[in-house]
Amino acid sequence: MTAGAPVPVIETRALRKVYAEGTQAEVVALAGVDLRIAAGEFVAIMGPSGSGKSTLMNLIGCLDTPTSGQYLCGGVDVATLDREQLATLRRERIGFVFQGFNLLPRMSAEDNVAMPLGYARVPPAERRRLAQEALAEVGLAARSAHRPSELSGGQQQRVAIARALINRPALLLADEPTGALDSKTGEEILALFKRLRDDGHTVVLITHDAEVAAHADRTCVMRDGELHEGDEPHSAYARSASTATNPRLAVDGGDVHGERSR
Ligand SMILES: Nc1ncnc2c1ncn2[C@@H]1O[C@H](COP(=O)(O)OP(=O)(O)OP(=O)(O)O)[C@@H](O)[C@H]1O
Ligand SMILES: [Mg+2]
Repeated sequence: MTAGAPVPVIETRALRKVYAEGTQAEVVALAGVDLRIAAGEFVAIMGPSGSGKSTLMNLIGCLDTPTSGQYLCGGVDVATLDREQLATLRRERIGFVFQGFNLLPRMSAEDNVAMPLGYARVPPAERRRLAQEALAEVGLAARSAHRPSELSGGQQQRVAIARALINRPALLLADEPTGALDSKTGEEILALFKRLRDDGHTVVLITHDAEVAAHADRTCVMRDGELHEGDEPHSAYARSASTATNPRLAVDGGDVHGERSR
């Protein structure tokens, strides 16, 4: 990195994750991943089922720890943080949309969305207002009293997205956020992610859908636990290269971000 260059929001160095190490069931889910994502980038991660995408996302979201290697979040090596510091980092800086929705079944949509605010920190009236605002952003203002079981799959997914956005996290991580949505709702969610990116948030999105990935500034591809930049000659994902001509990139300095790690 040149002197004065901004610290990446995400930097992984030789990140490895081995499940059930040393047993017959051993799986090398991440085989040494080096990833750098700058502030304000919108990055898509693609790759076949089982290639390690969710594993990588869980590590980036500080929900799991690596077997070896380093993860620096905003320049801070997360291995140096204690439990409480990690919890604060997750709550204040990271919004996570899980592959399953992970909504609490007994709570209304509004209470699910308000969860990350923390009961102690934010007074009830303010919690309600912020939760309503986040639900309105995903088009669900009229469903705030519904429980997850009273919502469609796509609506549950949108509640999960509203919950991830409620703290206006610097880093939004979304694992297949449009997988359960019809194409119109999916487009709306992508437009929302792009607005967040334009406001300076960093967005990392896992998707199986090349059309969804084409909305991102940059696409990475996981294969067998290894991460590859999407512009290498691998035609299935060549579509993402079309974002290089996206005029918006010139506006937010995407050229710089996009080229840095290539
Ligand atoms: N908790 C776990 N224990 C053991 N193996 C696991 C565990 N979680 C994931 N794996 C294995 O690690 C590999 C990577 O899994 P991961 O969930 O990261 O894949 P993925 O790319 O997200 O797949 P998908 O597209 O199906 O969601 C897989 O082979 C999986 O079986
Ligand atoms: Mg997954």
